[in-house]
Amino acid sequence: MRIPCSGFACNAETDSLGKTPVSSPVDTGSLSYAGIARRAEDALPGGVLGRHAYPDGIEHVPVSGKGAWIVDHAGREFLDYSCGGGSLILGYSHPAVVRAVQNQAERATQFVSILNLPALQLAERIKELVGWVDRVRLALSGAEAVMFALRLARAATGRDRILKFEGAYHGNSDYALWGVAPREPAGYPATRPNSAGIPEAIGDLVLVAPYNDPEAAAAIMAEEWRKIAAIIVEPVQRFYAAEPGFLEMLRRSCDDYGIVLIYDEVVTGFRHALGGAAELTGIEPDLSVFGKALGGGLPVSAVAGRAAVMSHGDPRRGGPEDGYCYVTSSQAGNPLGCAAALATLAELARPGVMEDFHKSAEELKAGLRDIARKSGEAAQVVGAGPLWDIVFADGPIRNHRSAMRADGDRHRRFHLGLVERGVMVRVGGRSYFSTAHKDREVAFTLRAAETALRSAAK
Ligand SMILES: Cc1ncc(COP(=O)(O)O)c(C=O)c1O
Repeated sequence: MRIPCSGFACNAETDSLGKTPVSSPVDTGSLSYAGIARRAEDALPGGVLGRHAYPDGIEHVPVSGKGAWIVDHAGREFLDYSCGGGSLILGYSHPAVVRAVQNQAERATQFVSILNLPALQLAERIKELVGWVDRVRLALSGAEAVMFALRLARAATGRDRILKFEGAYHGNSDYALWGVAPREPAGYPATRPNSAGIPEAIGDLVLVAPYNDPEAAAAIMAEEWRKIAAIIVEPVQRFYAAEPGFLEMLRRSCDDYGIVLIYDEVVTGFRHALGGAAELTGIEPDLSVFGKALGGGLPVSAVAGRAAVMSHGDPRRGGPEDGYCYVTSSQAGNPLGCAAALATLAELARPGVMEDFHKSAEELKAGLRDIARKSGEAAQVVGAGPLWDIVFADGPIRNHRSAMRADGDRHRRFHLGLVERGVMVRVGGRSYFSTAHKDREVAFTLRAAETALRSAAK
């Protein structure tokens, strides 16, 4: 094991001294960060793949990972908590996932959404694990599966509007990118889009309510229910879990008004419980969306649910006038992703794996709580289940508005301090835990967090 880096600037000379990059068919080109950054600037808008970019001074391009650790372009090793945005629930390159992908790749990598055995097996496995599910459609990303779920709900109800919760991210579709990170309340249930290029007209179809506020959601439903097809809710939104009574109230109202209740379990699915959020809360939705952890790092997602709603995806219905709802793509049920998902679920279902995973995550949070308490600062450890962060706020954090009151600058300094000490978090983002994070990783993180917390206070 290499010594994790301390400090960040990485110059071309160090690079050329050359910690050898992993052997890869991908052109790693010059290993100078400045060279990579120049090429990225020429090839990619903003020199990045999406929104996420490390702040100035952090020169880091990951090239490989094993377990909980990643190695960057300069050969430095970090303990990683980005975990592929939560997809790598078993850590990087888990042998069972690698083996499953290799075996499947030798047979076939794709069948153009024709019924295939890995896809069928995966649908059956999801049904087995999430007991209330009757039918499953597979997709590639969380966003795609959410889009399918919303369309199925509209097809099933003949209504167009959806109710979502402020601060919730449900992927990159035109319907979902509303009210994700508003700085000012728009006045519920109105909201603003979070991207240019989204038709204003869709704003009439998306209603937003504050999370964990049953009265506010009830008032909107009482007014608007005739037009609402679905409520989409995360059982754990960002860090805060649904409070007792919240999901119960949503379930009751959906039953009363004929609205489809959708759980977005892209984050919680197969992470907080193998049986999904219904296993934890006892409240069953009509549809659930799974992604991220499901594929163990490969792109696969699913919308799963009750036969009455899912049957709208049956092409034997005929056309849209018969309620047929288009929910597929060329890559739907891609066998590579399904093989990876089957291996991931098999590993998670092995006796003790979920228990140890949750226990280690709780140990990390307990250690962080101890550090935060001793610091005497308004630092709170947040994260329901195997998610974690420290935020700097006095009051409880239970929805977007309360999260907005936290000290963002100090949060950022804390994250930068972690990175400087060899703990790679997405600065300003959420940290995930994986089954590869064990006692050694917890101890390493706590040592880094203690000093990072002190330096964040300055
Ligand atoms: C709750 C939730 N839903 C949906 C998505 C979208 O998933 P994807 O990025 O795979 O499209 C995300 C992604 O972060 C998410 O956190």
